[in-house]
Amino acid sequence: MLIAFAEPNLPSGGTLIVTVGQDRTLGPAALEIDRITGGMVGRAIAASSRFIGKKEELLEILAPAGLTATRLLVVGQGKPDSLTETHFEGLGGAIVAFLNKAGETEAYLHLDLPAGPAPSLSPSQAAAAVGVGAQLRSYRFDRYRTTEKPEQKPSLTRLTIQLSDFAAGASLFAQSEPMLAGVRLARDLISEPANQLTPVTFAEHCTALTTLGLDVTVLDQARMAELGMGALLGVAQGSAQPPRLVTLSWQGDPNPPADRDSRPIVLVGKGVTFDSGGISIKPAGGMEEMKWDMAGAAVVAGVMRTLAGRKARVNVVGVLGLVENMPSGTAQRPGDVVVSASGKTIEVINTDAEGRLVLADALWYAQETFKPRLLIDLATLTGAVIIALGHEYAGLFATDDGLADQLEAAGQKVGEAVWRLPMGDRYDKELNSDIADVKNVGAGRAGGSILGAQFLKRFVGEMPWAHLDIAGVAWAKKDTATVPKGGTGFGVRLLDRFLADTAESQSSS
Ligand code: BES
Ligand code: MN
Ligand code: ZN
Repeated sequence: MLIAFAEPNLPSGGTLIVTVGQDRTLGPAALEIDRITGGMVGRAIAASSRFIGKKEELLEILAPAGLTATRLLVVGQGKPDSLTETHFEGLGGAIVAFLNKAGETEAYLHLDLPAGPAPSLSPSQAAAAVGVGAQLRSYRFDRYRTTEKPEQKPSLTRLTIQLSDFAAGASLFAQSEPMLAGVRLARDLISEPANQLTPVTFAEHCTALTTLGLDVTVLDQARMAELGMGALLGVAQGSAQPPRLVTLSWQGDPNPPADRDSRPIVLVGKGVTFDSGGISIKPAGGMEEMKWDMAGAAVVAGVMRTLAGRKARVNVVGVLGLVENMPSGTAQRPGDVVVSASGKTIEVINTDAEGRLVLADALWYAQETFKPRLLIDLATLTGAVIIALGHEYAGLFATDDGLADQLEAAGQKVGEAVWRLPMGDRYDKELNSDIADVKNVGAGRAGGSILGAQFLKRFVGEMPWAHLDIAGVAWAKKDTATVPKGGTGFGVRLLDRFLADTAESQSSS
């Protein structure tokens, strides 16, 4: 689907969309269409017992009199004080979802911005946000569908957003295109089944990103063995699929200002391409979901793609730990002790707590190789975070309050919310092992996500560090305004915004 921006104009066909504020308030564009149609907008609203102009509420008028458009769609805007970027993204998403089902191919939206006390967004910002939401909702993973009836396919080919300052809208929207491509990449990778996306093919997808100017290196099993990555390799040893460790580097700020720390920010992602649990095998019901246990790595790849796509003036490295966790005659056993690359020994009590084992070595490699000024990891680490926060917030753990606040703020702005959870020595103690430096699970199920974070912290040095447990938000079981069901890409927008707001050099032009 194409997003276009143009001057307000009556279309010769397709759907014309106007907006209506809460409590049925019509702005200039809606009033004009109401006049042209001999009062159809007002009569339709009056005739509908329910429509009051609530956010994303829709009212469809077919074959409107006085218009060459085949359909008039009236969309609710909600209350003026709720008109944020996220709000307009939701509007765009709701519109394309409706028109794709309706079989429409072309649509033209004329936004009325309610004249609030202090409108926080300009018309062009609002228009660009509608375009972003429309694109996010249009995403579809259909590469394995070979037979589909036309009426099952999304029909909308173009949404034209009309505003007088259409050039500004178009240029703002264009600035979001790299982020949209990053989200699409993450969603694609997350949605791929585990027979198609193995550590090796995942690494190949990363290598393909060199065309955008990213530096990509891939470590194979032999190289990881030389580096002593016994924790990551212990997880991989049960699988016929060999592991990979990928780094993607974006050096967009080669000469940072003298007052800025020139060390990179490093993002680390858990990339378990399938998590059967290993010998501590998972129950059969729902196990297919564990194809998306690589979402952390996919999101890091999506962020790196975004940064390269928009030529961000910042130095960031992504490190992906890619393995498959399988039970077999060569698999590691509960009770095994592995030696991590850091030298710390780990007693593997539960082979299903594998993400932290992979991350232990990936975090070590990230710190050893890149000496980051800031370290952030993303992982579908624990089922417990779903019990704690459901599917609305990702779990955030951080050693630095400032970093936690910045991540929270970035998440708020882009509609990817995170909620901070506590850490502390009393939790840490539960990971002491009788025979090794640390064990990979605590005694019971209490505080499972916190213990996962405490385990990771044992492998993290002095710099500020944050861990995002995205197990509850990486996959959507139902559609929401801007996220169709499936892999969400949660974290791409959050980290892109976090980096833009806190770490990027201003352009000198
Ligand atoms: N990949 C899972 C966590 C997960 C669960 C992600 C549900 C997405 C949805 C992780 O490897 C795991 O199995 N964690 C265990 C940890 C336990 C053994 C301490 C869990 O959550 O049960
Ligand atoms: Mn597991
Ligand atoms: Zn896992």
